[in-house]
Amino acid sequence: MSGGGGGGGGGNGLLYPIVGFVSFIAFLLLSFGDWFDVIYGHTAAAKRPTFVQRNGTQFTVDGKPFYVNGWNSYWLMDHAVEERNRHRIRAMLQRGSGMGLTVCRTWAFNDGDYNALQISPGRFDERVFRALDYVIAESGRYGIRLVLCLVNNLKAYGGKTQYVKWAWEEGVGLSSSNDSFFYDPSIRTYFKNYVKTVLTRKNRLTGVEYRDDPTIFAWELINEPRCMTDKSGDTLQAEMSSFVKRIDGNHLLTVGLEGFYGPKSAKRLTVNPEVWAAEFGTDFIRNSKIPTIDFASVHIYPDHWTRKPDFEYQLRFAFRWMLSHIEDGDKELRKPILFTEFGLSTENKGFSHSNRDKLYRIILDVIYKSGLRKRSGAGTLVWQFLVEGMEEFNDDFGIVPWERQSTYKLFAEQSCRLARIQGALPSQLRHLRKLCTQR
Ligand SMILES: *[C@@H]1O[C@H](CO)[C@@H](O)[C@H](O)[C@H]1NC(C)=O
Ligand SMILES: *[C@@H]1O[C@H](CO)[C@@H](O)[C@H](O)[C@H]1NC(C)=O
Repeated sequence: MSGGGGGGGGGNGLLYPIVGFVSFIAFLLLSFGDWFDVIYGHTAAAKRPTFVQRNGTQFTVDGKPFYVNGWNSYWLMDHAVEERNRHRIRAMLQRGSGMGLTVCRTWAFNDGDYNALQISPGRFDERVFRALDYVIAESGRYGIRLVLCLVNNLKAYGGKTQYVKWAWEEGVGLSSSNDSFFYDPSIRTYFKNYVKTVLTRKNRLTGVEYRDDPTIFAWELINEPRCMTDKSGDTLQAEMSSFVKRIDGNHLLTVGLEGFYGPKSAKRLTVNPEVWAAEFGTDFIRNSKIPTIDFASVHIYPDHWTRKPDFEYQLRFAFRWMLSHIEDGDKELRKPILFTEFGLSTENKGFSHSNRDKLYRIILDVIYKSGLRKRSGAGTLVWQFLVEGMEEFNDDFGIVPWERQSTYKLFAEQSCRLARIQGALPSQLRHLRKLCTQR
Protein backbone atom coordinates (compact mmCIF):
# COMPACT_ATOMS: atom_id res chain seq x y z
CA MET A 1 0.00 0.00 0.00
CA SER A 2 2.85 2.32 -0.70
CA GLY A 3 2.42 5.85 -1.97
CA GLY A 4 -1.19 6.12 -0.74
CA GLY A 5 -2.39 6.35 -4.36
CA GLY A 6 -5.43 4.75 -5.92
CA GLY A 7 -9.09 5.54 -5.57
CA GLY A 8 -11.18 6.29 -2.53
CA GLY A 9 -11.82 9.48 -0.60
CA GLY A 10 -9.06 12.00 -0.29
CA GLY A 11 -9.02 11.70 3.52
CA ASN A 12 -7.54 8.24 3.37
CA GLY A 13 -4.22 9.68 2.38
CA LEU A 14 -3.83 10.80 5.97
CA LEU A 15 -5.65 7.96 7.60
CA TYR A 16 -3.44 5.14 6.39
CA PRO A 17 -0.23 6.41 7.90
CA ILE A 18 -2.03 6.94 11.19
CA VAL A 19 -3.50 3.45 11.18
CA GLY A 20 -0.09 2.15 10.22
CA PHE A 21 1.53 4.00 13.06
CA VAL A 22 -1.04 2.91 15.60
CA SER A 23 -0.74 -0.72 14.63
CA PHE A 24 3.03 -0.42 14.75
CA ILE A 25 2.78 0.83 18.33
CA ALA A 26 0.29 -1.92 19.12
CA PHE A 27 2.74 -4.43 17.71
CA LEU A 28 5.51 -3.06 19.89
CA LEU A 29 3.32 -3.15 22.96
CA LEU A 30 2.26 -6.68 22.23
CA SER A 31 5.78 -7.88 21.69
CA PHE A 32 7.31 -6.06 24.59
CA GLY A 33 4.31 -6.58 26.83
CA ASP A 34 5.27 -10.21 27.16
CA TRP A 35 8.83 -9.39 27.96
CA PHE A 36 8.01 -6.88 30.63
CA ASP A 37 5.67 -9.45 32.05
CA VAL A 38 8.64 -11.74 32.31
CA ILE A 39 10.61 -9.09 34.18
CA TYR A 40 7.87 -8.20 36.58
CA GLY A 41 6.42 -11.64 36.92
CA HIS A 42 9.67 -13.50 37.42
CA THR A 43 11.95 -11.24 39.38
CA ALA A 44 12.96 -14.07 41.71
CA ALA A 45 13.57 -16.40 38.79
CA ALA A 46 15.61 -13.77 37.04
CA LYS A 47 18.15 -13.92 39.82
CA ARG A 48 18.40 -17.67 39.92
CA PRO A 49 18.01 -19.58 36.67
CA THR A 50 15.90 -22.70 36.84
CA PHE A 51 16.24 -26.07 35.16
CA VAL A 52 14.86 -26.58 31.71
CA GLN A 53 12.06 -29.11 31.97
CA ARG A 54 9.77 -30.90 29.63
CA ASN A 55 6.01 -30.99 29.50
CA GLY A 56 4.90 -33.47 26.87
CA THR A 57 6.36 -32.43 23.54
CA GLN A 58 7.64 -29.06 24.76
CA PHE A 59 10.59 -27.77 26.68
CA THR A 60 9.64 -25.39 29.44
CA VAL A 61 11.41 -22.82 31.61
CA ASP A 62 9.50 -21.62 34.66
CA GLY A 63 6.43 -23.37 33.30
CA LYS A 64 6.48 -21.50 29.98
CA PRO A 65 7.29 -23.06 26.60
CA PHE A 66 10.89 -22.74 25.51
CA TYR A 67 11.96 -23.02 21.86
CA VAL A 68 15.66 -23.18 21.25
CA ASN A 69 17.68 -20.97 18.94
CA GLY A 70 21.27 -21.98 19.54
CA TRP A 71 24.54 -23.20 18.17
CA ASN A 72 27.43 -25.66 18.43
CA SER A 73 30.93 -24.69 19.54
CA TYR A 74 32.47 -28.05 20.29
CA TRP A 75 35.84 -26.47 21.15
CA LEU A 76 35.01 -24.48 24.29
CA MET A 77 36.61 -26.73 26.93
CA ASP A 78 39.63 -27.66 24.85
CA HIS A 79 40.29 -24.04 24.03
CA ALA A 80 39.77 -22.85 27.61
CA VAL A 81 42.61 -25.00 28.96
CA GLU A 82 45.05 -22.22 28.06
CA GLU A 83 44.32 -19.01 29.95
CA ARG A 84 45.40 -16.91 26.99
CA ASN A 85 42.61 -18.38 24.83
CA ARG A 86 39.81 -17.72 27.25
CA HIS A 87 38.89 -14.39 25.71
CA ARG A 88 37.59 -16.41 22.74
CA ILE A 89 35.20 -18.40 24.91
CA ARG A 90 33.96 -15.17 26.42
CA ALA A 91 33.62 -13.58 22.99
CA MET A 92 31.63 -16.51 21.62
CA LEU A 93 29.24 -16.59 24.57
CA GLN A 94 28.83 -12.85 24.67
CA ARG A 95 28.17 -12.49 20.97
CA GLY A 96 25.92 -15.55 20.91
CA SER A 97 23.94 -14.05 23.72
CA GLY A 98 23.89 -10.73 21.83
CA MET A 99 22.17 -12.54 18.94
CA GLY A 100 19.49 -13.65 21.39
CA LEU A 101 20.74 -17.26 21.31
CA THR A 102 20.06 -19.30 24.42
CA VAL A 103 21.72 -22.72 24.09
CA CYS A 104 25.16 -23.96 23.04
CA ARG A 105 26.13 -27.60 22.51
CA THR A 106 29.71 -28.52 23.33
CA TRP A 107 32.00 -31.42 24.23
CA ALA A 108 32.39 -32.36 27.88
CA PHE A 109 34.89 -35.06 26.96
CA ASN A 110 38.40 -35.45 25.68
CA ASP A 111 39.63 -39.00 26.11
CA GLY A 112 43.33 -39.68 25.90
CA ASP A 113 43.94 -37.00 23.28
CA TYR A 114 46.01 -33.79 23.59
CA ASN A 115 44.63 -31.80 26.56
CA ALA A 116 42.67 -34.88 27.61
CA LEU A 117 40.13 -34.47 30.39
CA GLN A 118 40.31 -38.23 30.97
CA ILE A 119 43.96 -39.22 30.63
CA SER A 120 43.29 -42.91 31.12
CA PRO A 121 40.29 -44.73 32.65
CA GLY A 122 39.40 -42.96 35.88
CA ARG A 123 42.38 -40.53 35.73
CA PHE A 124 41.43 -36.92 35.16
CA ASP A 125 43.45 -33.81 34.43
CA GLU A 126 42.38 -31.19 36.96
CA ARG A 127 43.63 -28.45 34.64
CA VAL A 128 41.16 -29.51 31.97
CA PHE A 129 38.34 -29.94 34.46
CA ARG A 130 38.93 -26.35 35.48
CA ALA A 131 38.57 -25.35 31.86
CA LEU A 132 35.16 -27.04 31.80
CA ASP A 133 34.31 -25.32 35.09
CA TYR A 134 35.17 -22.07 33.38
CA VAL A 135 33.01 -22.79 30.33
CA ILE A 136 30.01 -23.57 32.51
CA ALA A 137 30.53 -20.59 34.80
CA GLU A 138 30.92 -18.18 31.88
CA SER A 139 27.88 -19.61 30.11
CA GLY A 140 25.87 -18.96 33.24
CA ARG A 141 27.06 -15.37 33.27
CA TYR A 142 25.87 -14.79 29.71
CA GLY A 143 22.57 -16.60 30.13
CA ILE A 144 23.55 -19.42 27.78
CA ARG A 145 22.54 -22.97 28.67
CA LEU A 146 24.71 -25.92 27.61
CA VAL A 147 24.03 -29.27 26.02
CA LEU A 148 27.02 -31.26 27.25
CA CYS A 149 28.00 -34.33 25.26
CA LEU A 150 29.75 -37.14 27.14
CA VAL A 151 31.64 -39.13 24.49
CA ASN A 152 32.24 -39.24 20.76
CA ASN A 153 31.32 -42.04 18.43
CA LEU A 154 33.91 -40.62 16.06
CA LYS A 155 37.63 -40.59 16.67
CA ALA A 156 38.05 -36.87 17.36
CA TYR A 157 38.95 -36.26 21.03
CA GLY A 158 39.37 -39.97 21.71
CA GLY A 159 35.88 -41.30 21.33
CA LYS A 160 34.75 -44.88 21.66
CA THR A 161 37.92 -46.03 19.87
CA GLN A 162 40.00 -44.74 22.78
CA TYR A 163 37.89 -46.64 25.34
CA VAL A 164 38.32 -49.83 23.35
CA LYS A 165 42.06 -49.24 23.11
CA TRP A 166 42.32 -48.73 26.86
CA ALA A 167 40.50 -51.97 27.60
CA TRP A 168 42.65 -53.77 25.07
CA GLU A 169 45.88 -52.36 26.55
CA GLU A 170 44.84 -53.33 30.06
CA GLY A 171 44.05 -56.84 28.88
CA VAL A 172 40.39 -56.64 29.87
CA GLY A 173 38.86 -55.93 26.46
CA LEU A 174 36.81 -58.67 24.84
CA SER A 175 37.20 -57.51 21.29
CA SER A 176 39.13 -54.93 19.33
CA SER A 177 35.98 -53.91 17.50
CA ASN A 178 35.17 -50.28 18.13
CA ASP A 179 31.59 -51.29 18.75
CA SER A 180 32.62 -53.25 21.85
CA PHE A 181 32.28 -49.82 23.46
CA PHE A 182 28.56 -50.57 23.58
CA TYR A 183 28.64 -54.08 25.05
CA ASP A 184 31.99 -54.87 26.72
CA PRO A 185 31.39 -54.90 30.52
CA SER A 186 34.81 -53.41 31.34
CA ILE A 187 34.32 -50.57 28.91
CA ARG A 188 30.85 -49.92 30.19
CA THR A 189 32.34 -49.64 33.66
CA TYR A 190 34.95 -47.17 32.40
CA PHE A 191 32.24 -45.06 30.84
CA LYS A 192 30.01 -45.17 33.90
CA ASN A 193 32.90 -44.04 36.07
CA TYR A 194 33.50 -41.22 33.65
CA VAL A 195 29.88 -40.14 33.64
CA LYS A 196 29.66 -40.26 37.42
CA THR A 197 32.82 -38.18 37.83
CA VAL A 198 31.56 -35.50 35.46
CA LEU A 199 28.01 -35.34 36.81
CA THR A 200 29.18 -35.06 40.41
CA ARG A 201 32.02 -32.65 39.66
CA LYS A 202 31.89 -29.61 41.92
CA ASN A 203 32.59 -26.53 39.85
CA ARG A 204 35.58 -24.76 41.44
CA LEU A 205 34.37 -21.38 40.27
CA THR A 206 30.70 -21.56 41.23
CA GLY A 207 30.79 -24.19 43.98
CA VAL A 208 27.85 -25.96 42.32
CA GLU A 209 27.96 -29.62 41.32
CA TYR A 210 27.34 -30.07 37.63
CA ARG A 211 24.27 -32.19 38.31
CA ASP A 212 22.76 -29.33 40.32
CA ASP A 213 23.57 -26.57 37.84
CA PRO A 214 20.65 -25.19 35.78
CA THR A 215 23.16 -23.65 33.35
CA ILE A 216 23.30 -27.15 31.89
CA PHE A 217 20.35 -27.62 29.56
CA ALA A 218 20.85 -31.35 29.08
CA TRP A 219 23.28 -34.24 28.88
CA GLU A 220 23.88 -36.04 25.65
CA LEU A 221 25.15 -39.62 25.94
CA ILE A 222 27.18 -39.89 22.74
CA ASN A 223 27.71 -37.83 19.61
CA GLU A 224 26.28 -39.61 16.55
CA PRO A 225 26.27 -43.21 17.83
CA ARG A 226 26.59 -45.92 15.24
CA CYS A 227 26.94 -49.60 15.87
CA MET A 228 27.55 -51.17 12.48
CA THR A 229 28.13 -54.66 13.89
CA ASP A 230 24.51 -54.90 15.04
CA LYS A 231 22.23 -53.43 12.44
CA SER A 232 19.12 -54.36 14.40
CA GLY A 233 19.62 -51.43 16.78
CA ASP A 234 19.27 -53.67 19.85
CA THR A 235 22.76 -53.04 21.14
CA LEU A 236 22.09 -49.37 21.55
CA GLN A 237 19.06 -50.04 23.72
CA ALA A 238 21.38 -50.02 26.70
CA GLU A 239 20.92 -49.08 30.34
CA MET A 240 23.21 -46.03 30.24
CA SER A 241 20.36 -43.55 30.34
CA SER A 242 18.93 -44.90 33.60
CA PHE A 243 22.43 -44.80 35.06
CA VAL A 244 22.60 -41.08 34.31
CA LYS A 245 19.12 -40.51 35.72
CA ARG A 246 20.00 -42.27 38.98
CA ILE A 247 22.84 -39.82 39.54
CA ASP A 248 21.17 -36.71 38.16
CA GLY A 249 17.42 -36.34 38.29
CA ASN A 250 17.53 -32.62 37.48
CA HIS A 251 18.65 -32.55 33.88
CA LEU A 252 17.13 -33.61 30.62
CA LEU A 253 18.85 -36.38 28.72
CA THR A 254 19.13 -37.28 25.05
CA VAL A 255 21.01 -39.96 23.12
CA GLY A 256 22.80 -37.90 20.46
CA LEU A 257 21.33 -39.68 17.42
CA GLU A 258 21.48 -38.37 13.88
CA GLY A 259 17.88 -39.47 13.34
CA PHE A 260 18.13 -42.34 10.85
CA TYR A 261 15.28 -44.81 10.72
CA GLY A 262 16.29 -48.44 11.34
CA PRO A 263 15.72 -51.61 9.31
CA LYS A 264 12.29 -52.29 10.81
CA SER A 265 10.92 -48.83 10.17
CA ALA A 266 8.84 -48.14 7.08
CA LYS A 267 10.27 -44.63 6.99
CA ARG A 268 13.69 -46.03 6.10
CA LEU A 269 12.46 -46.18 2.51
CA THR A 270 10.51 -42.95 2.33
CA VAL A 271 12.44 -40.55 4.56
CA ASN A 272 16.02 -41.78 5.12
CA PRO A 273 18.48 -40.07 2.78
CA GLU A 274 19.69 -43.33 1.22
CA VAL A 275 19.78 -47.09 1.80
CA TRP A 276 22.92 -47.10 3.96
CA ALA A 277 21.22 -44.97 6.62
CA ALA A 278 19.25 -47.94 7.95
CA GLU A 279 22.43 -49.96 8.48
CA PHE A 280 24.09 -48.06 11.29
CA GLY A 281 22.58 -50.08 14.13
CA THR A 282 20.44 -47.16 15.22
CA ASP A 283 16.75 -46.55 15.00
CA PHE A 284 15.45 -43.09 15.70
CA ILE A 285 12.10 -44.25 17.05
CA ARG A 286 13.19 -47.17 19.21
CA ASN A 287 16.26 -45.48 20.63
CA SER A 288 14.41 -42.26 21.40
CA LYS A 289 11.45 -44.04 22.95
CA ILE A 290 13.37 -45.26 26.00
CA PRO A 291 11.50 -43.74 28.98
CA THR A 292 14.66 -42.30 30.56
CA ILE A 293 15.37 -40.36 27.35
CA ASP A 294 13.63 -36.98 27.63
CA PHE A 295 13.93 -35.67 24.10
CA ALA A 296 15.09 -36.81 20.70
CA SER A 297 17.97 -35.37 18.70
CA VAL A 298 18.27 -35.11 14.93
CA HIS A 299 21.07 -33.89 12.64
CA ILE A 300 20.58 -32.46 9.14
CA TYR A 301 23.35 -32.75 6.53
CA PRO A 302 21.60 -32.82 3.18
CA ASP A 303 24.72 -32.44 1.01
CA HIS A 304 26.77 -35.02 2.92
CA TRP A 305 23.97 -37.53 3.02
CA THR A 306 22.73 -37.49 -0.53
CA ARG A 307 24.84 -37.80 -3.60
CA LYS A 308 22.36 -35.78 -5.58
CA PRO A 309 24.06 -32.49 -6.39
CA ASP A 310 20.71 -30.81 -7.11
CA PHE A 311 20.43 -28.19 -4.39
CA GLU A 312 16.65 -27.85 -4.69
CA TYR A 313 16.44 -31.59 -4.01
CA GLN A 314 18.62 -31.16 -0.93
CA LEU A 315 16.37 -28.41 0.39
CA ARG A 316 13.30 -30.57 -0.11
CA PHE A 317 15.06 -33.43 1.67
CA ALA A 318 15.86 -31.21 4.68
CA PHE A 319 12.26 -30.01 4.85
CA ARG A 320 10.76 -33.51 4.65
CA TRP A 321 13.34 -34.87 7.10
CA MET A 322 12.33 -32.27 9.69
CA LEU A 323 8.58 -32.66 9.21
CA SER A 324 8.87 -36.41 9.50
CA HIS A 325 10.72 -36.24 12.82
CA ILE A 326 8.36 -33.61 14.19
CA GLU A 327 5.48 -35.89 13.28
CA ASP A 328 7.24 -38.70 15.20
CA GLY A 329 7.67 -36.38 18.18
CA ASP A 330 3.98 -35.49 18.18
CA LYS A 331 2.47 -38.87 17.50
CA GLU A 332 4.90 -41.64 18.30
CA LEU A 333 7.34 -40.38 20.92
CA ARG A 334 5.40 -37.60 22.65
CA LYS A 335 8.71 -35.85 23.26
CA PRO A 336 10.39 -32.67 22.01
CA ILE A 337 12.63 -32.96 18.94
CA LEU A 338 15.80 -30.89 19.02
CA PHE A 339 17.72 -30.49 15.76
CA THR A 340 21.14 -30.54 17.40
CA GLU A 341 23.30 -30.15 14.26
CA PHE A 342 22.72 -28.90 10.76
CA GLY A 343 24.95 -27.47 8.09
CA LEU A 344 26.07 -27.21 4.51
CA SER A 345 29.65 -28.05 3.63
CA THR A 346 31.86 -25.56 1.81
CA GLU A 347 33.53 -28.51 0.10
CA ASN A 348 30.65 -29.72 -1.95
CA LYS A 349 30.21 -28.69 -5.52
CA GLY A 350 28.00 -25.69 -5.97
CA PHE A 351 28.46 -24.41 -2.43
CA SER A 352 27.62 -20.78 -1.90
CA HIS A 353 26.88 -18.76 1.17
CA SER A 354 23.53 -17.75 -0.20
CA ASN A 355 22.62 -21.43 -0.61
CA ARG A 356 23.67 -22.02 2.95
CA ASP A 357 21.43 -19.17 4.08
CA LYS A 358 18.57 -20.71 2.10
CA LEU A 359 18.96 -23.99 3.96
CA TYR A 360 19.23 -22.21 7.30
CA ARG A 361 16.08 -20.24 6.55
CA ILE A 362 14.03 -23.32 5.77
CA ILE A 363 15.20 -25.00 8.95
CA LEU A 364 14.54 -21.98 11.16
CA ASP A 365 11.12 -21.45 9.54
CA VAL A 366 10.07 -25.01 10.30
CA ILE A 367 10.88 -24.50 13.97
CA TYR A 368 9.10 -21.17 14.13
CA LYS A 369 5.97 -22.69 12.62
CA SER A 370 6.23 -25.69 14.89
CA GLY A 371 6.36 -23.29 17.81
CA LEU A 372 3.31 -21.38 16.62
CA ARG A 373 1.36 -24.62 16.44
CA LYS A 374 2.76 -26.01 19.69
CA ARG A 375 4.20 -28.99 17.91
CA SER A 376 7.23 -31.01 18.95
CA GLY A 377 9.88 -29.27 16.81
CA ALA A 378 11.59 -27.68 19.78
CA GLY A 379 14.58 -25.89 18.32
CA THR A 380 17.84 -25.90 16.44
CA LEU A 381 21.57 -25.78 17.09
CA VAL A 382 23.56 -24.84 14.01
CA TRP A 383 26.87 -26.58 13.30
CA GLN A 384 29.07 -24.57 13.97
CA PHE A 385 30.05 -21.10 15.17
CA LEU A 386 33.54 -19.85 15.95
CA VAL A 387 35.23 -16.54 16.58
CA GLU A 388 37.91 -14.88 14.47
CA GLY A 389 41.40 -16.34 14.39
CA MET A 390 40.74 -19.99 15.18
CA GLU A 391 41.09 -21.66 11.82
CA GLU A 392 42.48 -24.86 13.34
CA PHE A 393 39.08 -25.47 14.93
CA ASN A 394 37.17 -24.87 11.75
CA ASP A 395 35.84 -27.60 9.50
CA ASP A 396 33.94 -27.18 6.27
CA PHE A 397 30.89 -25.97 8.19
CA GLY A 398 32.21 -23.29 10.53
CA ILE A 399 31.32 -19.64 10.35
CA VAL A 400 31.96 -16.49 12.32
CA PRO A 401 28.36 -15.26 12.27
CA TRP A 402 29.02 -11.57 12.78
CA GLU A 403 31.25 -11.58 9.71
CA ARG A 404 28.25 -12.52 7.58
CA GLN A 405 25.51 -9.99 7.80
CA SER A 406 22.85 -12.08 6.03
CA THR A 407 23.47 -15.11 8.22
CA TYR A 408 23.63 -13.05 11.37
CA LYS A 409 20.29 -11.53 10.50
CA LEU A 410 18.62 -14.91 10.04
CA PHE A 411 19.53 -16.05 13.52
CA ALA A 412 18.78 -12.70 15.13
CA GLU A 413 15.33 -12.70 13.52
CA GLN A 414 14.71 -16.20 14.76
CA SER A 415 15.46 -15.02 18.31
CA CYS A 416 12.95 -12.20 17.89
CA ARG A 417 10.13 -14.26 16.49
CA LEU A 418 10.59 -17.08 19.00
CA ALA A 419 10.49 -14.47 21.76
CA ARG A 420 7.15 -13.30 20.40
CA ILE A 421 5.79 -16.81 20.88
CA GLN A 422 7.25 -17.59 24.24
CA GLY A 423 8.30 -14.30 25.79
CA ALA A 424 11.94 -13.60 26.49
CA LEU A 425 14.08 -15.23 29.11
CA PRO A 426 15.30 -12.71 31.67
CA SER A 427 18.82 -13.10 30.29
CA GLN A 428 17.62 -12.17 26.79
CA LEU A 429 15.70 -9.02 27.55
CA ARG A 430 18.40 -6.47 27.15
CA HIS A 431 19.65 -7.95 23.88
CA LEU A 432 16.26 -8.53 22.34
CA ARG A 433 15.13 -5.02 22.98
CA LYS A 434 18.03 -3.89 20.86
CA LEU A 435 17.92 -6.65 18.24
CA CYS A 436 14.23 -6.71 17.60
CA THR A 437 13.60 -2.99 17.20
CA GLN A 438 16.39 -2.35 14.73
CA ARG A 439 14.40 -3.50 11.75
C1 LIG B 1 1.62 -29.12 30.69
O1 LIG B 1 0.91 -28.65 29.56
C2 LIG B 1 -0.49 -28.79 29.68
C3 LIG B 1 -1.10 -28.45 28.34
O2 LIG B 1 -0.58 -27.28 27.81
C4 LIG B 1 -0.98 -27.91 30.81
O3 LIG B 1 -2.38 -28.02 30.95
C5 LIG B 1 -0.29 -28.36 32.10
O4 LIG B 1 -0.65 -27.50 33.15
C6 LIG B 1 1.22 -28.37 31.94
N1 LIG B 1 1.83 -28.97 33.09
C7 LIG B 1 2.80 -28.38 33.77
C8 LIG B 1 3.35 -29.15 34.92
O5 LIG B 1 3.23 -27.28 33.47
C1 LIG C 1 38.38 -48.40 15.11
O1 LIG C 1 38.30 -47.05 14.65
C2 LIG C 1 39.57 -46.50 14.30
C3 LIG C 1 39.35 -45.05 13.99
O2 LIG C 1 38.28 -44.83 13.16
C4 LIG C 1 40.14 -47.29 13.13
O3 LIG C 1 41.42 -46.77 12.78
C5 LIG C 1 40.28 -48.75 13.54
O4 LIG C 1 40.72 -49.50 12.44
C6 LIG C 1 38.97 -49.31 14.05
N1 LIG C 1 39.19 -50.62 14.62
C7 LIG C 1 38.58 -51.71 14.15
C8 LIG C 1 38.97 -53.02 14.77
O5 LIG C 1 37.76 -51.67 13.23
